[in-house]
Amino acid sequence: MEDYRVVLVGCGGISRAWVNAAQEYAGLKFVGLVDVNPQQARQLQTEFHLEDASIGADLGEMLAATGANMVFDCTIPKAHATVTIEALQRGCHVLGEKPMAENMTQANKMLAAAQQSGKTYAVMQNRRYLDPIVRFRELLRSQAIGVLTTINADFYLGAHFGGFRDAMEHVLLLDMAIHSFDQARYLSGADPLSVYCHEWNPSGSWYRHGASAMAIFEMSNGVVFNYRGSWCAEGLNTSWECAWRAVGEKGTALWDGHDSINAECVVGTEGFIREQQFAPIPDTPKLAHVGHAGVMYDVLDSVKSGRTPQTICTDNIKSLAMVHAAIESATTGKKMMIEFDNEHGL
Ligand SMILES: NC(=O)c1ccc[n+]([C@@H]2O[C@H](COP(=O)([O-])OP(=O)(O)OC[C@H]3O[C@@H](n4cnc5c(N)ncnc54)[C@H](O)[C@@H]3O)[C@@H](O)[C@H]2O)c1
Repeated sequence: MEDYRVVLVGCGGISRAWVNAAQEYAGLKFVGLVDVNPQQARQLQTEFHLEDASIGADLGEMLAATGANMVFDCTIPKAHATVTIEALQRGCHVLGEKPMAENMTQANKMLAAAQQSGKTYAVMQNRRYLDPIVRFRELLRSQAIGVLTTINADFYLGAHFGGFRDAMEHVLLLDMAIHSFDQARYLSGADPLSVYCHEWNPSGSWYRHGASAMAIFEMSNGVVFNYRGSWCAEGLNTSWECAWRAVGEKGTALWDGHDSINAECVVGTEGFIREQQFAPIPDTPKLAHVGHAGVMYDVLDSVKSGRTPQTICTDNIKSLAMVHAAIESATTGKKMMIEFDNEHGL
């Protein structure tokens, strides 16, 4: 008998990355594929030879019929709350796509459902599981550039998706910036205190709403995190992981979001511009699994061994709070405070 009997719900674009990642995990079997459009589920079944999995359009019926104990939620953001709460109430663990929810009310209900069920609900925040970000964080943690004061992220891509993103509100902040904001928490080791955000849809945008945004966050350790992003910026694209500049008391570190990391520190004690020297970049052990597989293996292994996975909902809701506070700030034109109850989320 396998450890995990998995129902995957939402068989669209990203579900391919999930099935690919899961295929190598020993003791995991896909027992059901659910989509409001069952043709999508059938297509996924054929593509990955998942003949043992049942096909359906109703998650509740599928869970009852298959005796699943794990749900992979790859639906669109609007459906995450309903899918997650139903799965938890039916006794399943859930690993779901980002963003957790379209608003904080839904997210808090999901958190409560996880706590009441005693099951694990974790979020696919795959940009934490990349070798360069682990190395960059280690550089900052080593204080090679001194105590961190400022962290900037630039995200500029011309991404032509089609589909739900073209029509949704706050598309960049809600569907993409969650990754960058979560990366900022990961890199700075801090939680957000406040945000001021300006969001707009630039002329020429092929999105309906909010393809560009700039946000300034005050973080709990005094660090200021600046985000500048656009999903409708053609030319000289940054990586999907953002281009980062971190400034510390003694130096500066850059990560281009790909493989290039550099740091330079002050060594001189005299003159207008003091003498600088490149700092060594730490080696970190290569991750066994990266991206989607990194999160998935951490969650599956954690549930089996009773550990808390890194992207557990009680932590991830703090990154989601950055998104929704930024949206509120952009909507009201005011700086928003972000408050947490560390025991129980927000
Ligand atoms: N982690 C990442 O790097 C990453 C990358 C891309 C997308 N995503 C996220 O994955 C999610 C899905 O994105 P996508 O690009 O695959 O979208 P998509 O539109 O290609 O696929 C979504 C699928 O969900 C189905 N669906 C919608 N509502 C449903 C419901 N209530 N029950 C069952 N099925 C339902 C749709 O029919 C569709 O087949 C989004 O939350 C998105 O933000 C994450």
